[in-house]
Amino acid sequence: MKILITGGAGFIGSHVVRLFVTKYPNYQIFNLDKLTYAGNLQNLTDIENAPNYTFVKGDITDQAFISNLFQEQKFDAVIHLAAESHVDRSITDPMAFVFTNVIGTCYLLHAAKELWKSDFSNKLFYHVSTDEVYGSLGEEGMFTEETKYDPRSPYSASKASSDHFVRAYNHTYGMPVKVSNCSNNYGPNHFPEKLIPLALNNIKNEKPVPVYGKGENVRDWLYVIDHARAIDDVFHKGQVGETYNIGGVNEWRNIDLIHLLCDIMDRKLGREEGASRKLITFVTDRAGHDLRYAIDSSKIMNELGWEPSVTFEEGLEKTVDWYLQNEDWLQNVTSGNYQEYYQKQYSQ
Ligand code: NAD
Ligand code: TYD
Repeated sequence: MKILITGGAGFIGSHVVRLFVTKYPNYQIFNLDKLTYAGNLQNLTDIENAPNYTFVKGDITDQAFISNLFQEQKFDAVIHLAAESHVDRSITDPMAFVFTNVIGTCYLLHAAKELWKSDFSNKLFYHVSTDEVYGSLGEEGMFTEETKYDPRSPYSASKASSDHFVRAYNHTYGMPVKVSNCSNNYGPNHFPEKLIPLALNNIKNEKPVPVYGKGENVRDWLYVIDHARAIDDVFHKGQVGETYNIGGVNEWRNIDLIHLLCDIMDRKLGREEGASRKLITFVTDRAGHDLRYAIDSSKIMNELGWEPSVTFEEGLEKTVDWYLQNEDWLQNVTSGNYQEYYQKQYSQ
């Protein structure tokens, strides 16, 4: 089987690529990535020479390129993760999210339909999406697969739109599709603009740790490798046309999570108890900041037998150790050096 994974140089995509390349040596895995600021081939150096792995540098918003790639490579399946993924960036630059997340997804769907339209059997377009499409919860309740879409940021609106297009291709053309909507991920390779890696990096460097508003917003955190395992389960065992919610059953108020991160870092770095908490700085809230996300994962747990493999304590311990041991990765992504690395290797 020939599988196109888009966005495989990013945070979640790199874990999905590694899992598929190593677990399924008979599959040919193509990783298509534009290598934006968030894409980093250093995430994949351990598997870059695997015989069943090919990296392709390219932009999903380049329709001619995408169309040629599908016609040339004749993929059997697509696992689509490439996206602009940061809510704060979507507030300052919403059009980038429209182009990549909406139009880019539509170009992929169109190319897949053109390639597969005479026979959709054994083909699959799998869209990896977010729980943010469901909007924001109050203090009670959880998102299920039946929750009405109510996206409220340009990021979540773009992901909701792409989810709708994926389902429309299933309904209108009969294309086999699957969608999964996941909660906030954390773990190795996470770009330090998102809360957990940003906080760890700033604590390490004794810089202020920005907390938006009062820090009362709640997120449900899932270890990224458990998300990759869930994607594997949905890809292989999920029903065509179905949606699966994936979450960690692990809700934290931002301020409580940051306190925990500060305390772990004090212990690991041998700092005085409470030292890192002094770095916490309350800043102006994010515009339209969603209060709470929480996922009901019972469908994927009951139907596909998936469950998280690590507790939050274990996952955080691994994550903090990874960031402390991978100083060069952090230096590179914060300095831009990694862009020189890949530009030398993969200049178009
Ligand atoms: P990321 O920002 O770390 O990585 C995105 C990748 O997509 C990068 O490698 C980037 O270079 C690539 N990319 C961006 N624009 C592209 C384009 N036009 N053409 C080709 N490649 C392009 O994102 P992530 O956190 O790994 O998220 C991956 C997917 O999972 C996204 O679709 C996101 O919406 C979804 N998701 C993320 C989370 C989370 O907590 N991070 C949770 C649920 C769902
Ligand atoms: P983030 O990691 O950007 O993910 P998302 O917005 O997709 O949930 O943010 C997680 C939470 O942390 C969110 O409520 C916003 C908040 N936050 C801060 O308080 N400070 C920060 O510096 C960042 C990046 C986020």
